[in-house]
Amino acid sequence: MKGVVLAGGLGTRLNPLTKVTNKHLLPVYNKPMIFYPLETLVRGGVRDVLLVTGGQSAGDFLRLLGNGKSIGLRSLNYAYQEGEGGIAHALGLAEHFVDGKKSVIILGDNIIEEDISSYVDKFRKQESGARILLKKVEDPERFGVAEFNDHTITKIIEKPKNPKSSYAVTGIYIYDGKVFDIVKTLKPSGRGELEITDVNNAYVKAGEMKFDILKGFWTDAGTFDSLLRANNLAKRKVEKKS
Ligand code: DAU
Repeated sequence: MKGVVLAGGLGTRLNPLTKVTNKHLLPVYNKPMIFYPLETLVRGGVRDVLLVTGGQSAGDFLRLLGNGKSIGLRSLNYAYQEGEGGIAHALGLAEHFVDGKKSVIILGDNIIEEDISSYVDKFRKQESGARILLKKVEDPERFGVAEFNDHTITKIIEKPKNPKSSYAVTGIYIYDGKVFDIVKTLKPSGRGELEITDVNNAYVKAGEMKFDILKGFWTDAGTFDSLLRANNLAKRKVEKKS
């Protein structure tokens, strides 16, 4: 299984913190944000990773992470996203690296407590399709939100004004090799981006979307409040361990 961390985008919601650096290099308690998704993959048994980034600080990732060995990766590869074409656009840059295999995709600003290896193992056994991880949240309107019929996802709505459930789609996605064919069919959304929610809805429509519900904490870190929350959760996790 290959891993892809998406760390492009301009991080404009965090201006001026992101004026001279990339959002994913900002500190989250005791390490740069990008360490968290990379460590999530390593703990999940995914050690061949492509990091997609962009902007003016792209070279700093190489200085920080090098070949990735110090954080337990077997190989760390890099791709450069021009502009901010959306999460699915960034994912499209991973096609050659993934090379038709199954892959675990994680957003560079997603911080989770849990070890994802059991979900990755379930997908190893799943013949095809996709698997996403959901989390019950108090502010679903900030995220992609799953709608259900019994225990099946019927649709995912990106940032709905009136969410029909409290289950946010977290930024951890597991796909089969078809994902890159789906990305090629996408059209930019109202905000001018290729949306990962459209990719997920294509799997939902094909009846090939499975899901699990995360047990531990999960947060993004793309706004001032969520960045503060991420810092506090990371601190609590370190304290729990010692
Ligand atoms: O955090 C989970 C949420 O992430 C999901 O629930 C939503 O469905 C999904 O659309 C996304 O929502 P956001 O609006 O919070 O995504 P954001 O634009 O903040 O981008 C999240 C990460 O994706 C960012 O840290 C880096 C990567 N990204 C984003 C864009 C727009 C890229 O690599 N390239 C991009 O062009």
